[in-house]
Amino acid sequence: MSLHTYREDGDGLPLVLLHGFPLDHRMWDDVARQLPAGRPVHAVDLPGTPGNASDLPEPALEASADLVAAAMRAAGVERAVVAGLSMGGYVALALVERHPDLVAALALVDTKSTADAPEARANRLRIAAEAEESGSVDPVRPMVSSLLGESTRSSRPEVADEVMAWIDQQEPAGIAWSQRAMAARPDRSEVLHAFGGPVVVVVGDEDTVTPVEAAEHLVATSEQARLVVVPRAGHLSSVEEPAAVAAALADLAQAADATSDEG
Ligand code: MLT
Repeated sequence: MSLHTYREDGDGLPLVLLHGFPLDHRMWDDVARQLPAGRPVHAVDLPGTPGNASDLPEPALEASADLVAAAMRAAGVERAVVAGLSMGGYVALALVERHPDLVAALALVDTKSTADAPEARANRLRIAAEAEESGSVDPVRPMVSSLLGESTRSSRPEVADEVMAWIDQQEPAGIAWSQRAMAARPDRSEVLHAFGGPVVVVVGDEDTVTPVEAAEHLVATSEQARLVVVPRAGHLSSVEEPAAVAAALADLAQAADATSDEG
């Protein structure tokens, strides 16, 4: 698994960005560009992404979290502000559960803390089997329309083209692994409830995958959480409205710096 470093310099706590499915670290590129200087910024390519789709362990987001922890430590990152979008958020909560020392603050972006309903789980297992059997990413190509909000789809077709190109570069074995890993994840609302650091919950107001109500549930679960609703964005708020997401992450990171200075 690989760590992509956008920026190495700065005294602030490092920021570690975890991507959604079926994508890779590139969905954070525009956010990384718009973050103020002053702290290292890394993104992780999770298991299943191109170049990380062979010799995979049993499908489990716990394995993803352990690999993120190993990549952080290998890069000398012992404590960070961790931001996860959708699947990246599920991994971020698994990281908090398994490696709490690494996480100073948490940004949960277009995600949720609950497990899948039985139908959603069955759908993931079906897509995993189809990706494997067809040896193609065709089973997840239609996701592009649910990932993006109505405003982006109707006025910025180039964004949809870019997301589709990223999906087309994914590996069928990786798609299958991630779907099975997500299907197996437990409810981690208690992990969020117990987390004591600063939390921001970010959601696109046109997100239909993990809608505003899911974000409100996260905020109700954590006494630390602040809600940021991003106008004109769907599920991929980091791609659709990167300036707003970068601003929310920068505010969170500043709060985390202040907390760690006090400690
Ligand atoms: C994602 O964006 O990571 C996916 O929508 C997550 C999921 O399928 O639950």
